Amino acid sequence: MYHWLNALPKAELHIHLEGALEPELLFRLAERNGIALTWANVESLRAAYAFGNLQEFLDLYYQGAGVLRTAQDFYDLTWAYLEKCKEQNVVHTEPFFDPQTHTERGIAFEAVLEGISQALRDGRERLGISSGLILSFLRHLPEEAAFRTLEQALPYRDAFIAVGLDSSEKGFPPRLFERVFAKARSEGLPAVAHAGEEGPPEYVWEALDLLKVRRIDHGVRAAEDPRLIQRLIDEQIPLTVCPLSNVKLCVFRQMSEHNILELLEAGLKVTVNSDDPAYFGGYVTENFAALHEHLGMTEDQARRLAQNSLDARLVH
Ligand code: ADE
Ligand code: ZN
Repeated sequence: MYHWLNALPKAELHIHLEGALEPELLFRLAERNGIALTWANVESLRAAYAFGNLQEFLDLYYQGAGVLRTAQDFYDLTWAYLEKCKEQNVVHTEPFFDPQTHTERGIAFEAVLEGISQALRDGRERLGISSGLILSFLRHLPEEAAFRTLEQALPYRDAFIAVGLDSSEKGFPPRLFERVFAKARSEGLPAVAHAGEEGPPEYVWEALDLLKVRRIDHGVRAAEDPRLIQRLIDEQIPLTVCPLSNVKLCVFRQMSEHNILELLEAGLKVTVNSDDPAYFGGYVTENFAALHEHLGMTEDQARRLAQNSLDARLVH
């Protein structure tokens, strides 16, 4: 299905590794680690994947991540995602991970990083997929916690290409993290941030002006502010848009209402990404396919979106 979309060489710039945890692997890891789950089986877990907003999803996503304990678990998760990349001609990926999701429950930062980094290295060598890891801070936790996480990460500075900002958006504006992002920049780490997913256009302004981000993750609500749209066009700031995610989390009621192609035609540097593919019904190709099916995306538009993703990489 959609061979031509699958065949396009693509980069993925917005994927949370914890969001690539498929129910089958989740159950396998729970068994391996002796963790009791509240769901009877894979089907009943999948049946719980119905969300009214971002927070309802995050509650389940953090619960699911609880089965990840050892470096091997993080390796298996990352490797399974890279095999999907190979299948879908994702030739380059810049995944996020949320260290605080794991360190807050007593998992060593080093175990998380070791498993992920080894899989990314093997992905480079055995699958030919280039990559760069983005360390993302959880914005529902205080800035001091982000500072501690950055301190833990700095001895492994070369394992990262950037810092990011994710989790509950409303009520947690980018300005709360201005100092920790300045510190990351002083260490040579560029920034990206989730903004304008559920939050207002002001959060996108703050991400640009205060966090000095190089890309905006989501950013679809920028459409409500013509001055902001003009800035994003003028500066060619990439938006990492996640269509299936936006519908699953009710940012848009249905795919036919999504604004991604309007943003593309207005001259913004938009890209297509999966966000949390295990939870939202598909990886990058399925996201492209949904745009073709419900928005009439043309082959020319698909090629431009794929090219944008290659152009918007932080590392080449
Ligand atoms: N963490 C994982 N997926 C996310 C999303 N779509 N928005 C914010 N935080 C996230
Ligand atoms: Zn995201």
